[in-house]
Amino acid sequence: MWFFNKTCTSKTCLDGKTVVITGASDGIGKETARDLYARGARVILACRNMEKANKAVEDIKNNPPSRFSSEYKNNAGELAIYLLDLCSLKSVRDCAKNLLTNEAAIHILVNNAGVAAYPNKKTEDGNQMTLQVNHLGHFLLTLLLLPKMQKSSPNCRIINVSSIVHIFADIDFDDINLERSYAPFKSYTQTKLANILFTKELAHRLKTANIHGINVYSLHPGIIPTKISQYSSSTIFPGATLCFNLFAQLLYKDAKQGAQTTIYCCIDEEIANETGLYYSNCGVTTPYRKANQHEYPEKLWNVSCRLLHLEPEEDFTTFLENVSRQML
Ligand SMILES: NC(=O)c1ccc[n+]([C@@H]2O[C@H](COP(=O)([O-])OP(=O)(O)OC[C@H]3O[C@@H](n4cnc5c(N)ncnc54)[C@H](OP(=O)(O)O)[C@@H]3O)[C@@H](O)[C@H]2O)c1
Repeated sequence: MWFFNKTCTSKTCLDGKTVVITGASDGIGKETARDLYARGARVILACRNMEKANKAVEDIKNNPPSRFSSEYKNNAGELAIYLLDLCSLKSVRDCAKNLLTNEAAIHILVNNAGVAAYPNKKTEDGNQMTLQVNHLGHFLLTLLLLPKMQKSSPNCRIINVSSIVHIFADIDFDDINLERSYAPFKSYTQTKLANILFTKELAHRLKTANIHGINVYSLHPGIIPTKISQYSSSTIFPGATLCFNLFAQLLYKDAKQGAQTTIYCCIDEEIANETGLYYSNCGVTTPYRKANQHEYPEKLWNVSCRLLHLEPEEDFTTFLENVSRQML
């Protein structure tokens, strides 16, 4: 209900900060971009559809969030678009290469793009589509951008947009591509569990490697009637998209409200010393069941490396150097 929806109240200004948001052409990602741009950030929309991204940029420039409108013109930051199609690991590498070449710094990375209830298709890299778009592509992008973020630290943050639906998930580490038992909802829920596990493991690896000043957060944004449910009617049952959107509307949360926890994780000062945790409704919370399985984060890390043909190294700094050498 709307009265349970918390808003990020932080007044943090982002002058001089660069933020990369994947899937910022629509939905929650676009609203996150709108807010952070109004706070003065250089916001990079990492998107696959240039026409849509250009329209999003125009919309963001012309329609500031209402609470910023008075001083908006003077304080707004910059907007830029980079091509990123997470269905293609080559596109992920090219996007990372362009960002590393053209951007002086990256302070905040928001891994937001996602698909749900997608048909059973494989990417050109041989991975199941939802797994690659929602998890593997972001895993690789993050590893490639980490050295630049290290140079841009302290006060850098990586945000992984997960979902409450992780409560329904488990991961079959022997069949993470769901070759034996594909189901569209199952494929989505396991990737949202993967977002939480990746957050935990990355935070752990950064800490163990004594890399400070980069914190990692995962979150549930709320249930919001966005385009995310567009495939449900053809893959789950006829009318599923309509049912989802009706249910979401009952919760009175639109994309702007749905962006609040992402914005909170990007900027709130109170959580500046937290890392590896899961948030909902602008506050920290405990994820469910399998997200707390002790051995899962490391197992997911190793399987992800295998699917990306990366050698998991003991030493994290050496690992990052190898990933950059091998992938760029
Ligand atoms: N809406 C909800 O109720 C809800 C609930 C929990 C979690 N979430 C999570 O919130 C995040 C944002 O979802 P949303 O609701 O804002 O959905 P959305 O409106 O459908 O936006 C998804 C964004 O991801 C982009 N995207 C999809 N496939 C991509 C690819 N291969 N490469 C690059 N970008 C791609 C889309 O680009 P195009 O415009 O080109 O398709 C779009 O910009 C997702 O991670 C989702 O799992 C949403």
